[in-house]
Amino acid sequence: MAKARIFSGVQPTGNLHLGNYLGAIELWLSLQNKYDCIFSVVDYHAITVSQEPRKLKESILAIAKIMLASGINPDQSVIFQQSALSAHTELAWILNCTAHMGELKKMTQFKEKSAGQKDIVSLGLFAYPVLMAADILLYQTEAVPVGEDQSQHVELARDLARRFNHQFGQTFTVPDLITRPDGARIMGLDDPRKKMSKSAASEYNYIALLDEPDKAAKKIMKAVTDSGQEIKFAPANKPAISNLLTIYSLLSGRTIARLEEEYQGRQYGALKKDLAEAVKIFLSDFQSRLNEITDAQARQVLSAGAAKIAPLAESTLRTAKERLGLTLNNHR
Ligand code: AMP
Ligand code: TRP
Repeated sequence: MAKARIFSGVQPTGNLHLGNYLGAIELWLSLQNKYDCIFSVVDYHAITVSQEPRKLKESILAIAKIMLASGINPDQSVIFQQSALSAHTELAWILNCTAHMGELKKMTQFKEKSAGQKDIVSLGLFAYPVLMAADILLYQTEAVPVGEDQSQHVELARDLARRFNHQFGQTFTVPDLITRPDGARIMGLDDPRKKMSKSAASEYNYIALLDEPDKAAKKIMKAVTDSGQEIKFAPANKPAISNLLTIYSLLSGRTIARLEEEYQGRQYGALKKDLAEAVKIFLSDFQSRLNEITDAQARQVLSAGAAKIAPLAESTLRTAKERLGLTLNNHR
């Protein structure tokens, strides 16, 4: 029996951080054997805010390399560049014509990102979730593994799929959401009430996957802590310590309960010191794998990936166009 399909994407903007890795990429790894996986470097999403062309080009390859260094196996899973397949923007246009302004105005990420924009807010930024729905629906995706911050967008993809199917006949699979409840949201080291983000004002907010390991260890040592002394997982009262415990648990494979037990009666400093060491080791290993991957390899993986899935994307797009009455040369 064919495996169920999953689709997910990462934007080639800035530095990927530990939140992206633990919230998304590691989740993908855990699903790789069970599902047919498609992972996209979503460059058309990146240009919804202004990007420097030379940097963008570098980031597209960098993300592909990060996926490979993380353990996404290109013989098993597809890695491709979104803009290589025009079906994404074509279906996005079609879905734009079924999406409602009102439902897009409600999107939390749009509200946050547009509020932070100094210059113009592009129409692309507003329509961003519709492009994401097109990404997902083109491949008859059964499930979408993402960080919790993307759940509203996946919900929109589900709504748009159902709406289209209802109005024009069965065309799209309605996708499920997959998040990891434990590490779906890694918070900022300097402010544990907001998620870790590559666009944060201070570099002490995040651990970038490309951070120098010693520097990363320093960031952990400087992370804010909560009042009190007890090392306990309690996100409402102890958001900072809970976040450090979450990160440590995910990196070490030990449960949070076990960590609480190990650190009973010990100081915050002890936890930070051990976590700093774990982060250092994780980054050194990761970066040595990354350094072995060449630009040529990454390019080859991206183009082979696009070639492999293009027929499926085109077939779904063709069906959608037929259903809408846009295709003149069929016999029906
Ligand atoms: P982005 O960097 O926005 O392209 O996000 C790529 C993936 O990482 C998405 O699945 C996000 O949900 C996930 N992600 C981003 N930030 C975090 C975070 N702080 N904690 C957990 N997951 C995150
Ligand atoms: N919007 C997602 C993010 O910022 C990236 C993305 C684009 C995506 N298309 C997607 C994720 C399709 C999952 C499925 O994280």
